[in-house]
Amino acid sequence: MTQYKIPVLSGDGIGPEIIAEGKKVVDVAGEKFGFDVEWIDYPHGADHYLETGELISEDTLKELSGYPAIYLGSIGDPRIAPGVLEKGILLTARFYFDQYINLRPVKLLEGVWTPLKDKTAKDIDFTVVRENTEDFYIGIGGRAKKGESKDLLEVKRTLYSAKFGLDIETDSEEIGYQIGLISKEGTQRVMEYAFDLAEKSRKHVSSVDKANVLSDIYGFWREEFEAVASKHPDITTDFNFVDAITMWFVKNPEWFDVVVTPNMFGDIITDLGAMIQGGLGLAPGGNINPQGTSMFEPIHGSAPKYKGMNKVNPIATIWAGAMLIEQLGEKEAADSIVGAIQQNILNAKVRTYDMGGSNGTSDVGDDIARLVREG
Ligand code: IPM
Ligand code: MN
Repeated sequence: MTQYKIPVLSGDGIGPEIIAEGKKVVDVAGEKFGFDVEWIDYPHGADHYLETGELISEDTLKELSGYPAIYLGSIGDPRIAPGVLEKGILLTARFYFDQYINLRPVKLLEGVWTPLKDKTAKDIDFTVVRENTEDFYIGIGGRAKKGESKDLLEVKRTLYSAKFGLDIETDSEEIGYQIGLISKEGTQRVMEYAFDLAEKSRKHVSSVDKANVLSDIYGFWREEFEAVASKHPDITTDFNFVDAITMWFVKNPEWFDVVVTPNMFGDIITDLGAMIQGGLGLAPGGNINPQGTSMFEPIHGSAPKYKGMNKVNPIATIWAGAMLIEQLGEKEAADSIVGAIQQNILNAKVRTYDMGGSNGTSDVGDDIARLVREG
C-alpha cells in the first residue's frame, strides 16, 4: 500500500470544519484505491499568531518543503488587521514554495444552479491558469509625503531578484505607490504550463492582459504569449483585455478552454468564474510547483461568521482534496471523488444551505464519502 504524509493547515474560521470533511473523503478514497494518508496537522492561523506571534516561520516552511503537497483550509480572522495573515501565511507560502501556477477549474457540475441563463454543464467547463508569484502581488511599494524622499524596494525569488532605488519628489500632500513586476522566466513558465494543459484538452489558450493601458508590464506579457504560442502551432489562441473577458465569461463561457492570466487579473476573474460554476462553495484551487511542494485549498475565505456552526458547504475543499491526490498521481481516486461530488449533487438529498438544503457540513462530507465507498 502506498503511504503518503500530507501536512494540513486547516487555518481560521470554517477552515477546520471543511478540512475535516476533505480528510474524511480522501481517507475513504485511499481505502478503496489502495493508499494511506497520514495527515500532519499544523496550527498556523489566527489563534496561533495571537498566542505566539508566529505567522509562519522559516523553520516551518523548510520542514513543509519536504512534502509534495499541503492541504490548506482557509486563512483570515476579524481580530487581526486585513492582510496580515493572508500575506504572512498564504502568500508567504505561495512564494516560498515557488508555486507559480494557481490552477482554478471553472466547471459547472450537472444539477448545480448557475446565474447564467440558458447555460448548462457542457457550456461552463474551462481552467484558469493564474500566474501566482509576480505582478502586483510581489508586495513592494510605499507611501511618500510632500517633499523629497528615498525608498529601496527589493524582490527576492529563487528564479531572480530585482532592486528598485527610488528618488521621490512630490508636491502632493501624500502619495501611495505599488510596483508590479513580471519576469521573462516567470511569464514563460506559466504559459508553457497553460499550453501543455491545452494540448491535453480542447487545444485553445486565451490570454488575459491590459496591454492597451498598462503596456509596459502587460505588453511584455502579450509578447511572451505570442512567443510561446508560436512553439505550439496546433493550439488556437486569442488575447482578451481583462475588462472584456469578464463580459465573455458571462456571455460565452463555452468559448474558453484554458485561460492564462497574470496574478491580479486572475484573482479577480476567478471569483467571477466561481460564481458561474455555482458559487464559492463549489470552487477549488491548486497552488502548484510541478517540481516542488504544491498546496491545495478552496478558493473561498474563512467565513468567520459561520465558524463552528457546521453549516457551510465543504464541496470546494473536498474537490481541492481530489486535486491534491491527483497531483500525487492518484488519478483514479481523484476522479472517483469528483464523481461522488457530482452524484451527491444529482441526488439532491444531502446539501448545505447555499444549495437550497438544510444539511450540515459533516452530513455532506459523510454522503460524499459514502458515494466514494459505494461508487
Ligand atoms: C485568493 C485570495 C488571495 C489572493 C488572498 C487571500 C491573498 O483572494 O486565493 O484568490 O488574493 O490570491
Ligand atoms: Mn481571490
